Order: sequence, then C-alpha cells, then structure tokens
Amino acid sequence: MKIVGIETSCDETAVAVYDAELGLLAHALHSQVDIHADYGGVVPELASRDHVRKLLPLLKSVLVEADLTIGDVDAIAYTAGPGLIGALLVGACVGRSLAWALGVPAMAVHHMEGHLLAPLLEDDPPAFPFVALLVSGGHTQLVEVNGVGQYRLLGDTLDDAIGEAFDKTAKLLGLSYPGGPALEALAIDGDPERFQFPRPMTDRPGLDFSFSGLKTFAVNTLKSNTNDDQTRADIARAFQDAVIDTFGIKCKRALKETGLNRLIVAGGVSANQALRLYLEDVAEDNNARAYFPRPEFCTDNAAMIAFAGYQRLRAGKSSSPAIKVQPRWSLDTLTAPVGK
Ligand code: KG4
Ligand code: ZN
Repeated sequence: MKIVGIETSCDETAVAVYDAELGLLAHALHSQVDIHADYGGVVPELASRDHVRKLLPLLKSVLVEADLTIGDVDAIAYTAGPGLIGALLVGACVGRSLAWALGVPAMAVHHMEGHLLAPLLEDDPPAFPFVALLVSGGHTQLVEVNGVGQYRLLGDTLDDAIGEAFDKTAKLLGLSYPGGPALEALAIDGDPERFQFPRPMTDRPGLDFSFSGLKTFAVNTLKSNTNDDQTRADIARAFQDAVIDTFGIKCKRALKETGLNRLIVAGGVSANQALRLYLEDVAEDNNARAYFPRPEFCTDNAAMIAFAGYQRLRAGKSSSPAIKVQPRWSLDTLTAPVGK
C-alpha cells in the first residue's frame, strides 16, 4: 500500500509518500516563512493562498522523486485539524477530490497524532505504551499513549503553548519569525548564571503547564537591564533553561505516575537540541529511554501525516467522505482504529 500524505495546517505545504513495506519513499516541504516574516507571524489568508499555489506542484515532484505515477497511489491521508481553517481546507479539498477521482480511500488525520507518531518513523522505534511530550506552536501536552488512538491526556498548558512562548520571547529579543530556532541559537552565547527565571507550576502537584509568566519575566528583565547583545543572549539562555528544566521535572513526574519507561518528545520545539539532550538525561536517570523524531520531522511535515493515516487505514478505519476540517480538535477524542 502506497499512501500520499498532505499537510497544510499552518505555514508549511508538505507532501510525502509512505509505502507499507518499504517505508518512506519521498517527502518534500515548501516553507512560507518568507511570506509571513514581515508580519512577525502567520497571516492566515496568505497561508491559504500559498497552499493553493504550491500543493499540486509539490505533489507532482514528490511522485517523481518516489518514481511513481498518480495511478500507483492506494490511499490519501490529509491533515483535517487542528489548524487554520482556510489552510486546512486546501489540503482537505485536494486530498478528498484526488481520492474520489482515483477511487481510493482518504483518511482525515489529526495533526497532533501525526506529531505523536513521528518517532515511529525512525529506526529502532519505541514500542507502546509510552509517555508523549507534545511541544509545538499550538500545543503543550503530556499524553499517556497505549496504542494508536489510545490517548489519555495527563497535562496541558493553561495559557500559551510552548512554541508560542518561544516565538513571543524571541520577538521581544528582536529576533525574526519563527523565533524558536533563533532563540535557541542566541542562547548559546548566553551566560546561564546571570538571570534566574522561575520554573512555572513545578512547586505544586500535577502535570499542567503555564508559560505566559516566563514571557512577562523576560519583558521585565529586559526593561531593568541595558538592552545590549549580551543581555539579550543571557535572557534567551535563562528563558530556555527555565523551559527545559520545567519539562524535565514534569516528564519525570509523568514517568513516575504512569510507571512507564519510554518517553517520546515530538512537535516543533522538540527540534531544540538543548531540550533533546536534557530530556535524554532525565529519561536515563529515571530508568527510561527518550525517543525523538529526526529534526526535520519534529516541525510540520507530511511524512508523519502519511504514516498516521496509514496506521488508521490498515486497521480498516475510514473517515467520512465529506470535506470537513476541525480547526479545534482535542487529541483525546480520537479513538483506536477498528481491530486494535
Ligand atoms: O510543530 P510545529 O512545526 O507547528 C505546529 O504544529 O505548531 O511547531 C512550530 C513551533 C514554532 O513555535 C517554532 O518556533 C518552534 O516550534 N520551534 C522551536 C525550534 N524549532 C521550532 N522552538 C525552540 N527551539 C527550536 N529549535
Ligand atoms: Zn505541528
């Protein structure tokens, strides 16, 4: 079975082909960063229009790379939510129409399920069950994962998602959008001793997060110090250290509470090298092992969508032929595919 994955939930147009026997055959991505950079964030209407322009040419080039023709495709998987409604509709319309024209099934995929299953695309993938830390531009969640579609939410953010907190703090430090990778680069030159940021919500039980206070702390720190290169780097370092430490504390708690010994970390922020190294140590110190997607599959991509769609389709799951997207869609409303 060869399944095409389509991702258009935000500011990246991506297409991939996954083969049930051979694994990933090809994947490609067109980033809209240049389009949105001037605005300091994603402009939804510009995102939708660019997906319209780029999706079909990208699909054609991915099929060529995989040495396939459109007639070889056995199924389509597309991101149906959560995300920007106009952007999602582009992928859903193309995915559904293509499937109808080819007479093959199409599967509506939950974007965060895609992120969550992305580490399974790597060699030596984690077995179920595991604890998942999902850290992206819109989500910050700890989830107990017992199988595909078997998700128990352990903790969530009460305010900003962590990617959002990275992006807002980066903007404050004068870095360009998207701020996460830029802030990570700036933090390398930062002095870890100069500023101490709080570790939000670690002084009470539970697995929820709150990151908006860290951004405020960064604002106040910048105001009360000379705004120069070193100060900005020191703030970036203090912010990142606080985030990483907070995740370490909560992941340790989640492993303890669930009694599990595998931790997967996925979503755009899991591309952060400092976070990866730290959580690897945290897992090891707690007799567990940490798993991550390769960096290019941490951020949005279509390989994870093709793979998640395949996991559902092979278990006989189908989704309604209606072109329907869900800008808001909670992960724990998903159910296990039939037969699982
Ligand atoms: O998963 P993703 O690509 O899109 C969403 O589903 O939201 O995540 C994007 C987020 C952005 O906020 C971006 O700044 C952040 O991931 N990000 C990072 C890094 N790379 C991407 N944050 C911190 N460090 C990074 N290296
Ligand atoms: Zn994402």
